[in-house]
Amino acid sequence: MQYTIAVVQGDGIGPEVCSAAIEVLRAVPGLAGTLEFREFPAGATHFQATGDAFPESTFEGCRDAHAILHGAAGLPGVMYPDGTEAGLDFGLQLRFRLDLYANVRPIRLYPGVACPLRRFDAGKIDYVILRENTEGLYASRGGGTLLRGEVATDTLVVTRKGVERISTMAFELARKRNGALRDGKRRVTLCDKANVLRSYAFFRKVFTEVATQYPDVEMDYCMVDAMTAHLVERPDFYDVIVTENMFGDIISDLGAATVGGMGMSPSAELGERNGFFQASHGSAPTIAGQNLANPHGTILSAALMLRWLADRHADPVLAAAASRIERSVTEVLANGAGRTRDIGGTAGTTEATALVCSAVQSER
Ligand code: IPM
Ligand code: MN
Repeated sequence: MQYTIAVVQGDGIGPEVCSAAIEVLRAVPGLAGTLEFREFPAGATHFQATGDAFPESTFEGCRDAHAILHGAAGLPGVMYPDGTEAGLDFGLQLRFRLDLYANVRPIRLYPGVACPLRRFDAGKIDYVILRENTEGLYASRGGGTLLRGEVATDTLVVTRKGVERISTMAFELARKRNGALRDGKRRVTLCDKANVLRSYAFFRKVFTEVATQYPDVEMDYCMVDAMTAHLVERPDFYDVIVTENMFGDIISDLGAATVGGMGMSPSAELGERNGFFQASHGSAPTIAGQNLANPHGTILSAALMLRWLADRHADPVLAAAASRIERSVTEVLANGAGRTRDIGGTAGTTEATALVCSAVQSER
């Protein structure tokens, strides 16, 4: 089967990390003819040039592709009159319009990547944050009120359908994993603030209903403020964490920081029909164009893309390719040569990428 991949490079380091991921995909033996890449413009740079951050033709190209691969979008200072960033419209609108309700963010500590947490080394942090991606506080993007220049509001949205589907995905995901590293227990933790807000209390109620259908998976609750401490003190207790959109945005950066930073953190945004893959990091304009960006987050996102396509289309070739890429990233990090500056190495973006490519090609 032939797969069309919509590619949106974006702003800042976006083009560098996106090209890196495509290079790696092209290097996988036997995959070359399988993927067809189609590029589409979007983001802050495109907004500056045209007044449109997310052209309709880009939306259609993304919607109709088998999957979407993205670098990063947004530039500070490129703003709408309301003070929000124009370049972010690509990712945000895409989530809403394609109903990409599940944002899957694996937090894994790779060998050779220094962990700021003293007690944890390679393989000792491995959990997944499942961020509800279309509701919550960010559902109000572009829709809050701004009155007389003195009152502004945004509303947090929680629906039964939204909670049911993300919770179901969390429990299904836990069933496929091997449990928390600390005790081997399959566990889904809901991260919320149910003691303060009705919307989170309702989230918890619906989550708990879903949990009763999964007696084989432990159900766990944690308030988001406590969660920030736990992710630093006992990350090995966690297996799958499910949470509201904004909380997921925040704790996924925290989780990333414990495993080498944003440059090491892939992400998959999934709906019923579409999948959107990018690293969790932003466009990092201060290091753009200098060959300093860490490409591993985007390369690992490309691997998530292959695995998602493999599941959807029952294609074992893609599943094997995904594992091959992940093993290759692991290898070049472990031996040190593929480490970029942000994770204590000296490799540039292109060197790290070339090393992953040759590992991918040479592996038997
Ligand atoms: C993320 C990013 C986005 C978000 C931004 C770029 C809109 O921070 O994917 O985590 O806030 O969701
Ligand atoms: Mn974020």
